[in-house]
Amino acid sequence: IALAVSAALCQAAQAAPLVVGFSQIGSESGWRSAETKVSKMEAEKRGITFKIADAQQKQENQIKAVRSFISQGVDAIFIAPVVATGWTPVLQEAKEAKIPVFLLDRMIEVNDPSLYTAAVASDSVYEGKVAGQWLAKEVGDKECNVVELQGTVGSSVAINRKKGFADGISENGKVKIVRSQSGDFTRSKGKEVMESFIKAEQNGKNICAVYAHNDDMAIGAIQAIKEAGLKPGSQIKVVSIDGVPDIFKAMMNGEANATVELTPNMAGPAFDALIAWKKDGTVPKKFIQTDSRLLLQDTAKQEFESKKSLGY
Ligand code: AHR
Repeated sequence: IALAVSAALCQAAQAAPLVVGFSQIGSESGWRSAETKVSKMEAEKRGITFKIADAQQKQENQIKAVRSFISQGVDAIFIAPVVATGWTPVLQEAKEAKIPVFLLDRMIEVNDPSLYTAAVASDSVYEGKVAGQWLAKEVGDKECNVVELQGTVGSSVAINRKKGFADGISENGKVKIVRSQSGDFTRSKGKEVMESFIKAEQNGKNICAVYAHNDDMAIGAIQAIKEAGLKPGSQIKVVSIDGVPDIFKAMMNGEANATVELTPNMAGPAFDALIAWKKDGTVPKKFIQTDSRLLLQDTAKQEFESKKSLGY
């Protein structure tokens, strides 16, 4: 009898749906909102109970959310870390509670890598490099002054996309960054910072290209360029990262030139890694890298349509 009871209990425990808590950064960009939406869909597909906490761009809110997930005893915690540092104490608490942590789309700096189980992200240095190499080739032997709109200060992606781009343009000595400032990954800040760049650079006449760490800031910049009476995409080239529908629309109108795609589906591979981990306490890979395709105006229409059909 005792054996039968324990087998039944075991089966019931196995059948219970997994509960995952997700500390999401916020909704600063079209890409971020798509990630939230896709994550919910991926959880649903797998019958996982998914709890999302919106941190409104603040690390302190993320830390509170993680602590709350720990006290609820969830099966796993997903974090899209707004900044790279400051995570050790709360991750230590998750480790002590034996709750695996998965990072989505951004990385962290910790001395002990066992503080998280796996990460799903792009190679963000490579993304910047692809953007820089594209521009270096595009401008040929023409002098090109670039203004850079950086992402959130202290985020792994802003640090890496800056580094990668500088490396990419180094292939052409005529391309140089003349101004660089954070636009916090938002459309409104991207526009505001671009307006100040335009004012400072002879009403934009001294600017050959804008490199934005995400499409939303690029879209804000396009608006600022148009309001200054200049033509984005031709007088000022526009290159960015994400591949959201609005940037493809701008490409279709000739107002943006290139983007490096970042899939919003980070949660799907993380759920699969969690399911594997639940079986035997291991994950197939610690770093699950997503693809980074360079996309140009020639395929913008088909990219736009395919994103729309995915419900992006
Ligand atoms: O971490 C991924 C970045 O965060 C995306 O490129 C950006 O749009 C978002 O806000």
